[in-house]
Amino acid sequence: MEKRSQWGTRLGFLLAAMGSAIGLGNIWRFPATAYSNGGGAFFIPYLFALLTAGIPLLIMEYTIGHKYRSSAPRAFRKFNKKAEWIGWWQVGISFVINTYYPIIVAWALMFTYFSFTEAWGADPQNFFLNDFLSISEPGKFGSVVPNVLIPLLLIWAVVFAILYRGVKKGIEVANKIFIPLLMVSFLLIVIRAVTLPGALEGLNTFFEPNWDTIFDGSVWIAAYGQIFYSLSIAFAIMITFSSYLPKDSDITNNAFITGFANSSFELLAGIGVFSALGFMAAQQGQPVSEVVQGGIGLAFMVFPRIISQMPASSFFGVLFFGSLVLAGLSSMVSISETYIAALQEKFSIKRHTAVSVGVGLSALVSFAYANQGGLFLLDTVDYFINNYGVALVGLIEVVVVVWFLRQLTPLKDHANKVSDIKIGAWWSFSLSVITPLVLGFMMIQNFRTDFTENYEGYPTAFLLTYGWAVALGVIIIGVLFTLKKWPKEDV
Ligand code: ALA
Repeated sequence: MEKRSQWGTRLGFLLAAMGSAIGLGNIWRFPATAYSNGGGAFFIPYLFALLTAGIPLLIMEYTIGHKYRSSAPRAFRKFNKKAEWIGWWQVGISFVINTYYPIIVAWALMFTYFSFTEAWGADPQNFFLNDFLSISEPGKFGSVVPNVLIPLLLIWAVVFAILYRGVKKGIEVANKIFIPLLMVSFLLIVIRAVTLPGALEGLNTFFEPNWDTIFDGSVWIAAYGQIFYSLSIAFAIMITFSSYLPKDSDITNNAFITGFANSSFELLAGIGVFSALGFMAAQQGQPVSEVVQGGIGLAFMVFPRIISQMPASSFFGVLFFGSLVLAGLSSMVSISETYIAALQEKFSIKRHTAVSVGVGLSALVSFAYANQGGLFLLDTVDYFINNYGVALVGLIEVVVVVWFLRQLTPLKDHANKVSDIKIGAWWSFSLSVITPLVLGFMMIQNFRTDFTENYEGYPTAFLLTYGWAVALGVIIIGVLFTLKKWPKEDV
């Protein structure tokens, strides 16, 4: 086997972990999630989720990777042979996410280019759905959309090149360039946004607490979901990344830094987005609540409109969509690394072979979204893989590690041995009681909702094939991977 890769510096590791965490989830997912779940009041469940699940789980995953110096499947196997499938399940989830995540990055790349001429014109919604995506209906895939396929190929070429160069020369170097660039671009956008007329009204709307929501279970579910997605927890990423840490590296401190950096960026994104929405509402003489939209709509339909109304519009368009590209690229690299490391170990192949197979396969599958019905496919796979992939495997991971394998104390001892900040009752109680309870409740609620109504009203056959079957398929494939024998030196 090749010698295990290692980060060159602590900063290199931290930037890579931040690069993974800070992604599309921070820029377009967080602001709308926070707003629709109580605005200012959302910060209470959000902070609670960060401190009782986000950071504790991050410490746990960093410790697992650091202790066993393995990709997720091999690390779980080292706990117990019967637990290996959990690692493969996580790797499989990352693989699925990496088939649609690049599509959004590809759109952002095209919109960076469109910003120069404001190609979206006076009706960005129509431009995005019809001119750019040539959208059809759910389940009707129609023909290939070159507008998406070409930037997609470019994005994959960049990701391949970074990963091919290895952990230290590829991932670490790329993040040392991407993250500072992202911070500067994004800060410029936020400073511009808060100084626009109407920004204050936008911020008032964002921060105004709706205290009634505190008693609503779905708000807590949204907070936990956001923290998991945003911190790249239960994606196998943080286990893989920390497996490249030198033996004497600090764990707990690194987890706090990653967690707080990610949330600070998220807050910054919320401030920027709502200031910009306040500006647009003021320009149109409408209340902010009328112009808010989440996710894809916010980034690709509302933002182009805002950008066109701003002074120096092309410049800020390039900065905004360029930031999305940078944030997305660094997350894509980390998501890919989970299966590259796992394939390399399980099949005892060279890194270059694992990069070619892993990136090649996910790129190939991602082409399935580059058609007229790709948006609906993306939306469905994203919803199901998050609810019945990331959140479910997060719950299983905690319950198995803490309750079945009884690993909490050995992991705590390991983390405390190498870290400045010592963990104790807060960490143990969060992982053994709070997280399983909240995630368990969240799962029951999710199943209830999705069994009683079709997500977004999409046809049942479509949801069964691309939602439920994908989420279940990943588990089955995970189990199948465990059947393959490990190379001799690993038995
Ligand atoms: N953590 C990554 C994001 O926020 C996946 O987009």
